[in-house]
Amino acid sequence: MPRQPPRPARMLRNAERPAAAAGLSRLLPSRLLPDSNERPDLSVVLRVALHVAIVRTLYLRVRYGGWCVVSRGTRLKIGPGSRLLIPDGSFLFLGFAHFTPAPCAVHLGRGATLSVRGTVQIHRGTRVFVHDGARLEIGNRSFVNDCSTVTCFQHITIGSGCAISWNTNILDTSAHELAIGGQPRPRSGPVTIGDQVWIGTGATVLAGVTIGDGAVIAAGSVVAAAVPGQTLVAGNPARVVREDVSWH
Ligand SMILES: CC(C)(COP(=O)(O)OP(=O)(O)OC[C@H]1O[C@@H](n2cnc3c(N)ncnc32)[C@H](O)[C@@H]1OP(=O)(O)O)[C@@H](O)C(=O)NCCC(=O)NCCS
Repeated sequence: MPRQPPRPARMLRNAERPAAAAGLSRLLPSRLLPDSNERPDLSVVLRVALHVAIVRTLYLRVRYGGWCVVSRGTRLKIGPGSRLLIPDGSFLFLGFAHFTPAPCAVHLGRGATLSVRGTVQIHRGTRVFVHDGARLEIGNRSFVNDCSTVTCFQHITIGSGCAISWNTNILDTSAHELAIGGQPRPRSGPVTIGDQVWIGTGATVLAGVTIGDGAVIAAGSVVAAAVPGQTLVAGNPARVVREDVSWH
């Protein structure tokens, strides 16, 4: 009796996977990536779906409008009179991605503002502090990777398409007052990071600094002065080491 060919059940399951993934992706709003027609990557969708704190996310949606999607364990403290500005079609993802055990922590002081435009991600282990009355703005498709800190006492702007690597620090205050020869130095100054800026791991961006569009900050740099657009700066203090750079 001729042998029946084995049923290709396993093969079928594997073959069906991409189709199923594509199907699930098609159900998702392309607005999740507002600058493009791309659908979100399925692995990102699954990571969010598996770790989202559903009740808190819905509470934030009702209370503040917009979509602030928080992962389980995220510490989010929103002080009285503070504002979480997330326009329709924009999303702020807090505490997803990366394997660091520490949760993401976001603290908005009294009357502070955190505003995002488009899709913004602040990953696990990162601490964001927006002091009373201060303002933090983050543009579309920018992310702050894990174990970084953003300390905002006045005004920090992060443009669109910025990649801010792990273990970075961005601060617009020195926190303590320094006097030299009895003359006090400015304690705080706004930080402005342009569009499409790449900040390498371990870099620190200090108060009062402006970084031009397309600039690259090498790993471990300490940025203490303005950085022209499309330059690579490196070192402590960071100096221009290359011009006419681009990255993706
Ligand atoms: C920015 C970067 C990619 C540039 O790499 P590259 O093109 O190979 O640069 P080069 O090695 O040609 O360096 C150019 C100059 O800058 C110096 N330089 C580069 N990186 C530096 C750093 N982190 N600190 C100090 N100086 C640095 C080099 O010594 C060289 O100096 P020279 O002109 O006197 O020889 C790299 O320096 C870097 O920081 N990589 C880490 C990026 C990161 O953090 N990724 C995490 C994922 S987001």
